[in-house]
Amino acid sequence: MRLDRFLSKRPDFNRQQVRQLLLAGRVTIDGQTERDGLREINAFQRIELDGQALQEGHPARYLMLHKPTGVVSATHDPQHRTVLDLLPEAAREGLHIAGRLDGNTTGLLLLTNDGQWSRRLTLPGSKLPKVYQVETAEPLGAEYVATFARGIYFAFEDLVTQPAHLELLGSNSARLTLVEGRYHQVKRMFGHFRNRVTRLHRESIGPIRLDPTLQPGEYRPLSAAELACTLENPAAHCTGA
Ligand code: URA
Repeated sequence: MRLDRFLSKRPDFNRQQVRQLLLAGRVTIDGQTERDGLREINAFQRIELDGQALQEGHPARYLMLHKPTGVVSATHDPQHRTVLDLLPEAAREGLHIAGRLDGNTTGLLLLTNDGQWSRRLTLPGSKLPKVYQVETAEPLGAEYVATFARGIYFAFEDLVTQPAHLELLGSNSARLTLVEGRYHQVKRMFGHFRNRVTRLHRESIGPIRLDPTLQPGEYRPLSAAELACTLENPAAHCTGA
């Protein structure tokens, strides 16, 4: 693998920061300063940043978790249980969340230690569809479908939301597909109609669907097929096979 790719897989550095770290001479291979990001490295070399080893014991990991309500999408929280608390301690190290959910939202959450992969999934430009099941306090109607498809003005960000697809399933339930992930986006979109979301559940992120055999609080590694789907063709439908 190339040194710059190896470094930008970490959650804390994007590609520009990696270039700067290299230029500043902060990275060494087997004790020798290395400024060339194109340099090929192998698993037997010791890569250090500011004298700290980076690669030992950190193979890339990709997990899907069925988030229950009542845990927060954070890696640390002084007050609340976090999604990482659902994993055994040994499995938590280095993981971060690719696309958060609110505390009372359930469903698919992806966890990884591969920063490059999670950035690819969550960058606004990726336009990866995220599918939610929604239940609301007040009845829904055709005006929601048309308004969501047109986009809604969010004053705080001063933007209009990307066209979203709403499929009405019942008087108070729907399936919503978004291609972006703004703060509390689903609740704010229904809030436009002064309609409160009473239940929110994420079914899928791009090609990855929540495994229906996972109970709330359970997790499993992504299968090789699921991972290949996100790496090669995020738009494809993907099964756990
Ligand atoms: N939109 C929300 O409002 N909440 C979530 O948890 C996810 C999307």
